[in-house]
Amino acid sequence: MAGLATQAFDSLPPHQKSFLRSLPKAELHAHLNGCIPLDCLIKLALDASKSDGPQPPLVREALQILKAGLNLNRIEDGFKLFPAIYHITSTPKAIALATSAVLDFFLEPTSPGVPPQCVYMELRTTPRSTPHMSRKEYLSVVLGEVVKRGGKASLIVSIDRRMSPQDVAECISLAIHFRNSGQPIVGIDLCGNPLSGNMKAFHTLMDAARDAQLPLTAHIAESERNTAQDTAEILSWSPRRLGHATFLDADAVLKVSREKIPIEICLSSNLVSKTVESLSAHHLRSWLELGHPVIICTDDTLLFKTNLVAEYALLLARPPLGLGFEEEEIRRIAQMGFRYRFHESRKTWNAVQKIARFKN
Ligand code: IMP
Ligand code: ZN
Repeated sequence: MAGLATQAFDSLPPHQKSFLRSLPKAELHAHLNGCIPLDCLIKLALDASKSDGPQPPLVREALQILKAGLNLNRIEDGFKLFPAIYHITSTPKAIALATSAVLDFFLEPTSPGVPPQCVYMELRTTPRSTPHMSRKEYLSVVLGEVVKRGGKASLIVSIDRRMSPQDVAECISLAIHFRNSGQPIVGIDLCGNPLSGNMKAFHTLMDAARDAQLPLTAHIAESERNTAQDTAEILSWSPRRLGHATFLDADAVLKVSREKIPIEICLSSNLVSKTVESLSAHHLRSWLELGHPVIICTDDTLLFKTNLVAEYALLLARPPLGLGFEEEEIRRIAQMGFRYRFHESRKTWNAVQKIARFKN
């Protein structure tokens, strides 16, 4: 079953398909374990069953759901698949293969003569300790794959809302450690089930990340059940980008628009998770009308059966399949992906370090 965005892409005439394919794009909001190509995940699950015995029911059921396509009732339902995916990617070898497959998926041509989906990506992932590796080893393995792509890929370290402050501290220290040793870590993300955790407990730690020149992107107001206090707390951390921002209250809208904090927009994700009723009701249009910066992203291509070209097709296709934007407007939107990437902070940090070395 094709996703909504793929249907929009399929509806386009050939010249519009090639316009979207050749448009330079940056992917700034993609979760590693949510973007593993399905054939890669199935193969990794098979490999695991050869060494560990039959697949546990959790894994079998998740693979069946992913093959059939998700039918979610609430955003929280999507999170139920991650324990199975995590079971499959719990060894250094599996997470290396998964990372490589995700980077290929976004950055390599899908077939000869067809441009890659994007020319630059900021992949994000949550450092995870398993019986087979520590959080440090996890990050080291992922980074080992990211560096192979040169300047085309960088990494954002995700903090899960369910983490204890001690776990958050460990993840931020690791991010600082690897970044200081020259690894391509460009920022911190706040993600996870939007209804979990107490964000006040993270305040000092998020300040520390900012002081260490690691910019923050935060999933915010993703569920209508997120409170104004939760939103205000996250905004008090001075995030440099926001994910979704679907249910911002009036005070938050004012602050976000005054400070022009770019919003990462994931159309298929919002539609499949049913946090937005329809494309025509999506908040993207009103932010664009305000001249507010937005970036088009995929979120979880595995879960939402999408890709970055198809997400852009949702902008270009005629209603009701798409929003019917003009090519010129889409070109302008795509440029914002480059303008608001964290990659620049990596360059600034390298320069700061060089000057500091010179002074010492
Ligand atoms: P990982 O960080 O590479 O393990 O990618 C999967 C994780 O990303 C999940 O466990 C969630 O914490 C997070 N994630 C994926 N999609 C979403 C979303 O739509 N909202 C919030 N968090 C998400
Ligand atoms: Zn996300």
